[in-house]
Amino acid sequence: MKITISVIKADVGSIGGHMAPSRQLIEKVRQHVTQKGAGLLIDHFISHTGDDIAILMTHTRGPGDSKVHKLAWDAFVSGTEEAKLQGLYGAGQDLLKDAFSGNVRGMGPEVAEIEFDERPNEPFLFFAADKTDPGAFNLPLYLAFCDVMNTPGLILSPKMSKGFRFLIMDVNYTEGDRIIELNAPEDMYDIAALLRDPERYVVESIWSRSTGEQAAAVATSRLHNIAGKYTGKDDPVMLIRTQMNFPATGEVLAPFAIGHFVAGGMRGSHHMPLMPVEQNSIVSYFDGPPVISCAGFCVQQGKLTEAVDAFAHPFWTTVRERISDKAIEFRRQGFVGPTMLPMNELEYTGVVEKLKELDTRFRIRKGEKVPAD
Ligand code: F6R
Ligand code: MG
Ligand code: MG
Repeated sequence: MKITISVIKADVGSIGGHMAPSRQLIEKVRQHVTQKGAGLLIDHFISHTGDDIAILMTHTRGPGDSKVHKLAWDAFVSGTEEAKLQGLYGAGQDLLKDAFSGNVRGMGPEVAEIEFDERPNEPFLFFAADKTDPGAFNLPLYLAFCDVMNTPGLILSPKMSKGFRFLIMDVNYTEGDRIIELNAPEDMYDIAALLRDPERYVVESIWSRSTGEQAAAVATSRLHNIAGKYTGKDDPVMLIRTQMNFPATGEVLAPFAIGHFVAGGMRGSHHMPLMPVEQNSIVSYFDGPPVISCAGFCVQQGKLTEAVDAFAHPFWTTVRERISDKAIEFRRQGFVGPTMLPMNELEYTGVVEKLKELDTRFRIRKGEKVPAD
């Protein structure tokens, strides 16, 4: 059976700043999807990661379906009403357009969708990140799909020996989708050369070269490119099919033990290590650290099993402690150098304006030895 998994997520309001949506808000979104999604969806799953609510849906209508997208958009609009009633912070902040027009792409919410013929066993992983942007997935995807040091399946499994095709998007280009296709292993250095710049080049999808099947779908929207100004970090979602022709679940999860530095954290304007957390976790220290959650599922005829919380295992407790130390150590450097994002990635214009004003006060010294009074 051919099915589509669509995940659409948005921040439409949260408690105590950017920590987590309220229970009432989540319930409002759930009610809408349950009531209005009957007859349209086969199944759905609602969760939150930090201040973002994700609606995971299965159906047979293909990616980009206007009815499925409208269902999610309307659920977030209805959630926004609740968020306003409760006085939640940033109510409706990710709904950047006034009216729905066919597809939520380019309207604020993040989307990842994948359509495939179900295998007899169909495991997949749903990732959601908060306080960061889509480039956060560059390194984990490179390691999981290209690097034998992380993924022994690349040499052990004949089904993976041909490698994977990467579709990489230049997210700075706003006139349309500017993409490039590169094949691992032969283009690995080219893939690495692009992915080293996660604010500009992000993985959009990954495909098996043995079977042509899609392995991964990643949300690529950059909110500031839509709004023309910063409205918050993008907080991307990602779907990855695992096992058999694809990397094993453990091979996909392994790179998240690194706690690599990503863009985000406080005021969306810093570099901080990415912390794997349990589903429905809040965000705390320094509006971070940026977090990633992962729910594992199997799906059959579009029906989802219960979710298994991939980062709830005790192994990740040690990882989290190490990443907390890493975050605190890096934060000791405050605002100088690599801790803060480069000028064009800052969420606020304050520094830019300040520098403009200071620039007018610079002068070329004319021979005097000491500064004038
Ligand atoms: C992402 C997130 C941050 C904030 C940013 C701006 O989920 O919450 O990127 O959008 O810290 O915060 P305020 O609204 O306080 O200016
Ligand atoms: Mg937010
Ligand atoms: Mg968020």
